[in-house]
Amino acid sequence: MRGDDVSTPAADCATTSGPCKRLAFPERFLWGAGTSAYQVEGAAAEDGRGPSIWDTFCARPGIVQGGDTGEIAADHYHRYADDVELMRRLGLGAYRFSTSWPRIQPDGQGPVNPSGLDFYERLVDALLRCGIAPVLTLYHWDLPQALQDRGGWGARDTAARFADYAEAVGSRLGDRVAAWTTVNEPWCSAFLGYAAGEHAPGLTDPALALRCAHHLLLGHGFAVQALRSAVGDTARISAVLNLSPVTAVTDREADHDAARRIDGLLNRLFVEPLLLGRYPVDVQIDTRHLTDWNFVRGEDAKVIASPLDLLGVNYYAPTTVTAAAPSSAPSPWPGAEAVAFRVPEGLPVTAMGWAVSPRGLFDILRRLHTDYPPIPLFISENGAAYDDTVDATGRVRDPERAFFLHDHLAMAHAAIAAGVDLRGYFVWSLLDNFEWTFGYAKRFGLVQVDFASQLRSPKDSGLWYRDVIAANAVPCC
Ligand code: FCB
Repeated sequence: MRGDDVSTPAADCATTSGPCKRLAFPERFLWGAGTSAYQVEGAAAEDGRGPSIWDTFCARPGIVQGGDTGEIAADHYHRYADDVELMRRLGLGAYRFSTSWPRIQPDGQGPVNPSGLDFYERLVDALLRCGIAPVLTLYHWDLPQALQDRGGWGARDTAARFADYAEAVGSRLGDRVAAWTTVNEPWCSAFLGYAAGEHAPGLTDPALALRCAHHLLLGHGFAVQALRSAVGDTARISAVLNLSPVTAVTDREADHDAARRIDGLLNRLFVEPLLLGRYPVDVQIDTRHLTDWNFVRGEDAKVIASPLDLLGVNYYAPTTVTAAAPSSAPSPWPGAEAVAFRVPEGLPVTAMGWAVSPRGLFDILRRLHTDYPPIPLFISENGAAYDDTVDATGRVRDPERAFFLHDHLAMAHAAIAAGVDLRGYFVWSLLDNFEWTFGYAKRFGLVQVDFASQLRSPKDSGLWYRDVIAANAVPCC
């Protein structure tokens, strides 16, 4: 099947008469769901955890909607055993979670806090007892504040400290973790955190953000090496990138150039050093008014391209751009300041205002497959926030989320049929949780969390996903 022939499942459903088509997935396809430490754990000041940049950022007035923080979140730190039981009942084959660096190394360096590692050991063992594969992310944005005080990701030393932390986690859990992810969405850490000021640490320095992107990738490479030596040949290691197909609104040359710049910063700046061992030249040219890239030293490119076993793709929405006058607001797009973003016309949007385009998932998977050296892929995040409703019986009705998952899974299936080596799919998220600057106002969970009582209730979409997992297949509609 060629990509251009892929129709949306909704269209298939509308035109198919006769029996409903089931989309069967390969045997051993991994079905999972994910969370991250700061978004679900809570227990922010317990058992020796140090502060992270997100604790500091949330404490700034007016930053997070409703003044929310991750102090309690979904209380997963205390309720992990019940949550694992919930995962078992949903039939999950894998759970993607992150370890909190400041829980394990409160100062970001030096002695390890044994209670921090104990928690993750309890979690991993509980998962294994239920036959759920632990997929561990080392960095999902919660940098120890002590390291930020020494320059954060702007400091080359942070990359070396990240390797020490990876070594500590690898030595303790390496015999039990099914797959490792080093960094989650380094684009967000670097550009939302250090250029747009929208994420912790809330800085607005585009040149610094480029340096941070490099140090995040370098930290990734050092961590891959540290994990290989701590865990040995059995370690299965990945990075997780947020990728999105970028389209120009018109065929005008200026719009195409806008699309090239955004594609460079969002996709190629991360995929190319990981898989090809070099930074895209056009991005270096676009940003030369900001930096001469002298932060890239001798062997860095080789370290960053340390061989991986898997690549994780987080996909939420496509990106549509047009050339525009530069805005005066801090931009997460150094070298692409004269670009405006558009929500593509005619597409539905989620409660985040993100356009729903399952086809974009197919496009990004196919591009990785055709344009880069072969590497097994997994969809490490995909999901949607909607304003769920609860009926009189307490049932959480979220039909849009089930449709969203259905349509994206149909595209994942089409990608496999087109030859993409896709090994698994993780819904974001297992639980409603702390959605960064949106606080608790945006809900992505398969399972609803009542944050006042901490009561969990599987949503209709969670039960739908349970049936998909049990069948290893997606119903047509
Ligand atoms: C991704 C993040 C994840 C969550 C989803 C909605 O960018 O990795 O933590 O916030 O978006």
